Amino acid sequence: MENSYVLYHDQIIKSGTIPVDPEDRGYLFGDGIYEVVFVYDRKPFAINEHFERFLQSANKLELAMPYDVSTFKQLTEELITKNNIVNGMVYVQMTRGVAPRNHLYERNMQSVVTGFAKSVSLDSIEKSQSQGIQTYLTEDIRWLRCDIKSLNLLGNVMVKRRAADFDCQEAIQHRDGTVTEGSSSNVFIVKDGKLKTHPATNLILNGITRQVVLKLAEKIQVPVTEEAFSAEELLEADEVFITSTTMEVTPVVKLKGDQEQTYKIGPVTKELQKQFKHQIQLNSSAMKS
Ligand code: PDD
Repeated sequence: MENSYVLYHDQIIKSGTIPVDPEDRGYLFGDGIYEVVFVYDRKPFAINEHFERFLQSANKLELAMPYDVSTFKQLTEELITKNNIVNGMVYVQMTRGVAPRNHLYERNMQSVVTGFAKSVSLDSIEKSQSQGIQTYLTEDIRWLRCDIKSLNLLGNVMVKRRAADFDCQEAIQHRDGTVTEGSSSNVFIVKDGKLKTHPATNLILNGITRQVVLKLAEKIQVPVTEEAFSAEELLEADEVFITSTTMEVTPVVKLKGDQEQTYKIGPVTKELQKQFKHQIQLNSSAMKS
């Protein structure tokens, strides 16, 4: 991140100058939260929704916000401008702060905020969206508060590695045969023209992209239910796609694991991809005016 600017507390400063404290609870316990916001044409997408979720994650973990959500949004925008990001992403994290190592936390510690911005080439996202990706079905080994966007991602990173070892770009997780979500995405299936995705319970992260896609499905009158579905239903689906900030709406063309399946990129997925692109354009023009 040479010559880039990063976020530290409430300052945007040159990278390489942030002091790292080994007793930061983020390092010791993964005690913190984060958000990833995508930037299209210099504008952050769904920034309000991301920082609303950030606030919710902070509240659920009793993390003290050092300043209000509007300051987080303003600093995110500053990171984009200072780093001259046209298309890319911003990562913002907040740990509980620095204290002598002790599992027991004190409430209202001074949290530590850091963040960075990176340019991303849209080509690889476009390629995955037009060709689809391979996925690997595996057991969900995470804790039971997956609704919190916490820094604790060991379960997620372990299954992502396993998926990659089988030449898959994403892992799809299941708990006792019920599909929950991807390692860093939400999962949707289409069967007989109807869309299904796991409800926003403690077992999944309620993705911002997921929420946008649910609204878009309603708009184009595709029947949708937020209802848990089984690994068998996944295998028998007509279409499967994943959603996330960094992958938008990406079709799944192959499922690997104990059983294998191939899928076509179907009409519902294609229409939702188109609608999502339109939403990005609307976001850009709304923020220009
Ligand atoms: N991850 N589920 C999990 C476990 C995730 O980590 C993510 C996103 C999602 C999709 O959420 P959203 O649509 O708000 O991006 C679902 C981000 C991109 C990451 O960790 O990089």
